[in-house]
Parts: sequence; C-alpha cells; structure tokens
Amino acid sequence: MNHKILMVCLGNICRSPLAEGIMRSKLGDQVLIDSAGTGDWHAGEHPDKRAITAAKNHGVDISKLRARQVKASDLDEFDLIFAMDESNFLNLQAMTSSSNQKSKIKMILGDLNVPDPYWGDASDFENVFRLLDAAIDEVIEQYQLS
Ligand code: 4NP
Repeated sequence: MNHKILMVCLGNICRSPLAEGIMRSKLGDQVLIDSAGTGDWHAGEHPDKRAITAAKNHGVDISKLRARQVKASDLDEFDLIFAMDESNFLNLQAMTSSSNQKSKIKMILGDLNVPDPYWGDASDFENVFRLLDAAIDEVIEQYQLS
C-alpha cells in the first residue's frame, strides 16, 4: 500500500519537520511524507536553526522544508496522521468530520508526548531527535511501511 503520512506539531518548525526528515531519510520515496503545524505563526518559515543542526548532526537535511498550517483537506489527503503531543492530537481531533478521519490520527509516541523543545536548548533538540528516531522505527514496523 502506498502510504501518505503527515507529521503534526504546533509550529511546524521543531518537532514535526524533524519527524518528516527522519522518516524520509529511512524510507526515501517509499511513502509520501509531509508535516504541518496546528498553529500558523511560522507558516512559510524554514525549521528552527536548532532543529536543522540536530538533524544535520545525524546526517538528515531538513533545511529546505517550509512550515505550513494543517488544513481540513489534510484529513482526507493523508492516511496516517501523527501528532507529536496530546494538545496537537486534540486539536486535530476537533477538526475531523467523520470517524474515518478520526481513526487516522495517532500519537507518535503512543501515550507519551514529544516534549516541545522550542523554549529549550540544543540538548532538548537532540533528545527530540532520539525520541523520534526510535518512534519512527517502531511506526515503520507497526504499519509495515518499508
Ligand atoms: P514545534 O515547536 O511545535 O515543535 O514546531 C514550537 C514552535 C513554535 C512555537 C511553539 C512550539 N511558538 O510558540 O511559536
């Protein structure tokens, strides 16, 4: 099956671009992968410099990505939508208009939140990278994406 996967956080400049870049680095063109934010404050911007650096330290280039806000049509366009934390999850759920749309939305760490590194430092971004790297390996296995 050809999966279309959307990674979602708040600003689309820290966590979800990292998730997008990590998944693309593992799967290449085997899946269509994108990311978006529930908020629109950073739309059009490249990822946060600290996220770009954390990714680069692991050989992943996210420098060319651009932030965008989640839109209603994403809930039809994508078949798996991963929220980085419970707040993102609830905001996405509130946008749905069918049980099919609702069923597409998952938390990337299961019951746990990916901590928002925006107000933190480089070590917080490194921690997010590691959490997402492990979570994405599990997602690839669980959904048989490779
Ligand atoms: P992200 O981090 O949701 O992982 O992209 C944030 C980025 C920006 C803001 C909050 C979180 N902000 O408040 O502008």
